[in-house]
Order: sequence, then structure tokens, then C-alpha cells
Amino acid sequence: MGAASTPRHHLPLPKRIFAYALYALLPLAALHYLLLSPPPPPLATTSTSTTPPVAAVAVARKAAPRCDYSEGEWVRSASAPRYNGTSCGSTIKGGQNCMAHGRPDTGYLHWRWRPRGGGGCALPPFAPGEFLELVRGRHVAFVGDSLARNQCESLVCLLASGFPAELVRGGNGGDGGDGDEARKFRRWVFPSHNATVSVFWSPFLVNGTEKSSSSAAAAGAGGLDHNRLYLDQPDERWAGELDGIDVVVLSAGHWFLHPAMYYERGEVIGCHHCPEPNRTETGFFGVFRLAVKNALREVITRAARSPSQQQKLAVVTTFSPAHFEGEWDARDACARSEPYAPGEKEVGYMDREMGRAEAEEVAAAAADARVRAPGRVEVEALEVTAMAALRGDGHPGPYMNAFPFAGGERARVPNDCVHWCLPGPIDTWNEILLQLVKRWRDSSK
Ligand SMILES: *[C@@H]1O[C@H](CO)[C@@H](O)[C@H](O)[C@H]1NC(C)=O
Ligand SMILES: *[C@@H]1O[C@H](CO)[C@@H](O)[C@H](O)[C@H]1NC(C)=O
Ligand SMILES: *[C@@H]1O[C@H](CO)[C@@H](O)[C@H](O)[C@H]1NC(C)=O
Ligand SMILES: *[C@@H]1O[C@H](CO)[C@@H](O)[C@H](O)[C@H]1NC(C)=O
Repeated sequence: MGAASTPRHHLPLPKRIFAYALYALLPLAALHYLLLSPPPPPLATTSTSTTPPVAAVAVARKAAPRCDYSEGEWVRSASAPRYNGTSCGSTIKGGQNCMAHGRPDTGYLHWRWRPRGGGGCALPPFAPGEFLELVRGRHVAFVGDSLARNQCESLVCLLASGFPAELVRGGNGGDGGDGDEARKFRRWVFPSHNATVSVFWSPFLVNGTEKSSSSAAAAGAGGLDHNRLYLDQPDERWAGELDGIDVVVLSAGHWFLHPAMYYERGEVIGCHHCPEPNRTETGFFGVFRLAVKNALREVITRAARSPSQQQKLAVVTTFSPAHFEGEWDARDACARSEPYAPGEKEVGYMDREMGRAEAEEVAAAAADARVRAPGRVEVEALEVTAMAALRGDGHPGPYMNAFPFAGGERARVPNDCVHWCLPGPIDTWNEILLQLVKRWRDSSK
């Protein structure tokens, strides 16, 4: 989402807050909404009662044990990240390069995730050579919003710490603003392993039209002040390339909090903060679930008829909570320097529901894939919601802009409490991704 884009300083204060809030603070607005009214029931077409066929999975695979990394705690670690804001500076979006932007504390870099699983389920540190060996001659694609891009840039930096990367599509662009366009569809090749890593911008996972980046601009330029989602239509910008993709990582969610109209087969099926008069609010949970379901269905359908006989892997990175604790422009909106301790913070209601919907849709899609595309595609969840919720210390905060306090301390400063500093906690998502990729390769041998 657009939390890192430049706020409109020239607007008078109330308008400025409105414009920025619409764009960046809807998690809070949505939470507010959810607290004031009972959560809407999911849309009729989206209910899922499928339980994960755990037993079937265990019997069918002889691969590495199925480790559950989703619960655990952050523990201090002496080891340094594999890369930094200088060594990977051109890959990292400026607004997430906290080191280069002058974030003074470094404690947030020294934590490792210890999964509760224990036993053989420790989470090993990221190993670039191992990852690249597993995807030799293959293509790993991230699909989704700016959190998908955040995770993609983390993976590229982790891999590039060991093996040279070549940017072969898109540009490094500038910081934020228009530079984002060049970053929406980037692609890197690792010539040592003939492996490809790419990112595809698709904030709804399905076909849709994004609202303009601020409501003021929308009103002025005839753009949309809300999103339009066409749930039954794939986003061909990535779906059309699935034949050439071996590992697809879907990651989205924050854009669903914005005002939107939802369509299916040309009919309105719902809306959120309904922009059209006389429409009944449906909330976004059901639609988010449907978007994940339909995106996974598309992956399975196309894998079933893909000319490539190689098995594919589809991963859904679950919802990553924001940490606006107080006002968006307060000095300390997300100014923690350490993770929350176990039990110190519960996963928020909305965050939990988003993550749960994704995990359930993954389980349903995995079963669907075994029936409709046996041996062609595996579907896995990368459950980060709980571990991410503990990392209020890992966001750029005011360092979304370079040296925000160069002119002295300020009481009011825009914050990004949505994305993650690179290096930072999101590197752990890719440590888990490595384990999922490993299990997939083991089981498809
Ligand atoms: C960043 O990493 C490079 C290469 O490993 C190293 O030479 C440099 O000293 C590091 N910079 C910082 C600020 O840690
Ligand atoms: C590199 O991988 C691609 C598939 O991603 C394959 O078509 C191509 O033949 C490979 N090239 C080499 C030199 O192995
Ligand atoms: C979205 O759907 C419309 C109508 O089917 C189609 O014309 C358009 O190409 C689609 N856009 C994308 C990005 O798939
Ligand atoms: C909304 O509904 C009211 C009451 O049914 C009706 O009077 C009004 O014309 C409707 N407005 C629109 C824009 O459809």
C-alpha cells in the first residue's frame, strides 16, 4: 500500500490528515469501524468449511517433517544480517532502507525467530547457496502489494549477499513517488544458478482498478476515489505468465481496507465504505478471502494445463499487521526498539481474521490441487501474522524519509508503520520460504 508515499504537505491540516489517513491509516479506520459494528458475515459465495487434510499430507510425503513455524518467540542473536543498506542499497526501496535514512538504533537487527515447534523444527539461518541450488534454472515470483515487493527485495538482498544478481527488468527508480512505477515489475537473474526472482504488482491478486493515490488528486484529475475489484477476473499481468513461473508467492491485504466496490460477472456483490449511494456495506473480509481463493484457483487451473511437467509451488504469505500505535504523524507512532515479549501483545482482531482466512483458503486450495492438478502444484501457507505482530520495532517509522530529524526534533512527522526495514524482520519470512521450497523439492523428487 502507499504508506510510504509523500504526504501532501501543502494541503491545509484537516484535509492533509484526511488525504493521508485514507491512504495510509485505513488499518486504524477499519479497526475503528470493526469495533463500532459487529463484523459482517462473509459473503455467501465465500464460506469455507474445509479442514486441512493433515493426515493425507503426512501419508503422501516422505520429505522433511512438516514444521509449523507460525508460533514462537523472538530471541536475541549476536549474528549480523547478511546484507546492509549500503551493500544492497540499489535494490532496497529508499523508504525501507532505514540504515541509509539515518535510523540510529540497530538493536532491531539482532533477533532470530525461535519456533515453538522445537525438536527438528528449528529455523536455520538463510543460506543463499542452498536456496539458489533448490531453484536452479527456475523462476520465483512474488505477486501482490508493496509487502510482496518488500519480501522480494529482502530475498534478492539475501541471495545477492552470496551470488551476484543482475536486474533484467524494471528499474531501481527513485525513492517513492514515481520511482515506484519502475519497481512494480522488476526481475533479477542470478547467472551462477540461472535462477530468476521477480515481482509483479497486483494489490488485489485479482483484476481491479486502483484508486488514485490521494482523494484530492482523484477529485481533481477525474481518477477514482475508491478501488474496483473484479473478483471473477484474473489479473493477467501475472496470471498470464504462470507457465514460466515455478514458485509463486502471493502477498496482499492492506489495499482491501480502502473504500471499494466489488463486482462478480458484472454484478455488484458488495462494497466497503461504500462509495455508491444506497449500497449495503459488506466489509472486506469475505472479499479478501474470495480474492485469495480465486488467485489460487487460477494458479491450480493453469498448472493443470501447463506444458511444463515440472511441479510448481504456490505460497501465500499471510497478512502482516501494521503498528500505528497512536496517531500516524506522532513522533513515536511506531518507535519501539525491541520486539514485544511473548504474551505482551495479542494479534489484533482484523490481523488475525485476515491471516486465518488465508490459511484456510490455502488448506482448501491444497486439497483442490491434489484433485485437479495432481503432481503439478503444491500450495503452502507462509504464516507470518503472529511473528510479524510482535515486531513493532521493525518498521521504518519516521525514517520512511531520509534524516527526518536533520533539522532538529519534531513532534509531528509522517510514519510508515506498515512496511519493514531492510534488513529487518521480513528477512525471517524468507528463511521460512527457504524451508518451504526445500520441502517442496524433496517431495517432488
Ligand atoms: C555493509 O556491508 C558491506 C559488505 O559486507 C561492508 O563492507 C560494509 O562495511 C557494511 N556497512 C555497514 C554500515 O555495516
Ligand atoms: C535457464 O533456465 C531457463 C528456465 O528458467 C531455461 O529455459 C534455460 O534453458 C536455462 N539456461 C541454461 C543455460 O541452463
Ligand atoms: C481485467 O479485465 C478486463 C475485462 O475482462 C480485461 O480487459 C483486462 O485486460 C483485465 N486486466 C488485467 C490486468 O488482467
Ligand atoms: C436511495 O434510496 C432512497 C430511499 O429508498 C431514495 O429516495 C433515493 O432516491 C435513493 N438514491 C439513489 C441515488 O438511488
